Amino acid sequence: MALPVEPSLAVERFVASAELPTPYLVLDPYVVADRYNRLAAALPGAEIHYAVKACPHPEVLWTLAALGSGFDVASVGEVRLAVAAGADPDRICYGNPVRGPADIAAAHAAGVRRFVSDSAEDVRLLAATAPGARVLVRLLVSDAGSATPFAAKFGAVRGEAVRLLGAVADAGLVADGVAFHSGSQQLRPDAFADGITEALSVAAAAGLPRPVLDLGGGFPVAYLEPVPDIAAYAAAIHDALAGAEGVRLMLEPGRALVAESGLIRSTVLRVSRRPGVDDRRWVYLDVGRYSGLAETENEAIAYRVRVPGRSGPAEPVVLAGPTCDGDDVLYRRTPCPLPLSLEAGDVVDLLVAGAYTASYASVAFNGLPPLPVHTV
Ligand SMILES: Cc1ncc(COP(=O)(O)O)c(C=O)c1O
Repeated sequence: MALPVEPSLAVERFVASAELPTPYLVLDPYVVADRYNRLAAALPGAEIHYAVKACPHPEVLWTLAALGSGFDVASVGEVRLAVAAGADPDRICYGNPVRGPADIAAAHAAGVRRFVSDSAEDVRLLAATAPGARVLVRLLVSDAGSATPFAAKFGAVRGEAVRLLGAVADAGLVADGVAFHSGSQQLRPDAFADGITEALSVAAAAGLPRPVLDLGGGFPVAYLEPVPDIAAYAAAIHDALAGAEGVRLMLEPGRALVAESGLIRSTVLRVSRRPGVDDRRWVYLDVGRYSGLAETENEAIAYRVRVPGRSGPAEPVVLAGPTCDGDDVLYRRTPCPLPLSLEAGDVVDLLVAGAYTASYASVAFNGLPPLPVHTV
């Protein structure tokens, strides 16, 4: 199992010496490089396409491009970020199947040739606007075991996926293979094995000789609890591929490459007792749902919270953000014990916060600026 990790020494040095206004996110690109190398070593031969949405900071993208990573992008804006970081457009996959003709044409003009699709309408658009495109058809798979499931927003069922691969070839495009994504922070290695079995069956039914199988992202990180380590996922993937010939593997990790590189430093705005409302203290931070903590929705992701300047006995609190929005409460159910001595003005850190934070921050909700990002 992989256990929760501490921030890197460089991040610890940064927060100890930087006198910067909070909140902010600090990232250590060396940790990103290390997680990329670990994943590449666990699944040799798989083409890794970093999912830019997880953390599009230029230094993260430069680091990964320099290591030879490809990129999974969700928009033309992300194509531009990846190209600016030195990515080879041929190693960029436009993975978001929801887009308009102008998006496809702009990505194609930038040199992108690989697209994921999951509808006949999008395949027609690709045929009209992206000549020569290599298309992966996204298969709907179970996302049970994921902390942030897709709720069936994407993907075609088996029969439709086979038909779509036929439509891709009929339209003069290259039917390259099958993609799936079994949900982010996926805690079941078998989810990948099940997806592979279904994807292989689709590729065979569509008559693809050397299919690409794009297993998506979903590899988890340890926030509060241990998670299966990457070796368990590699073993499940390896077993599911036994006997399959000529398969080319693609991965689209986001969280697993960047989460552990980041820490959010924040400040306590207020500690309130709320007689008649709650026996617990309410602790309001200067960072919240709209300044980068979007994944606390439904308490899906529970960050480890530490208070560097306080020790002594702790009791559970309700942790809330700074805005006037009622949804800006981070944890009501998730146990969050904080020191009884905690006061307004104290520093609070959220650990393992490099993924899906700064990129989710609103631009000006309640007049608050987007989450500043620093690197070490
Ligand atoms: C199509 C696609 N690929 C890759 C990812 C990255 O997933 P993760 O960060 O869980 O690795 C996502 C994120 O949800 C996605 O939607």
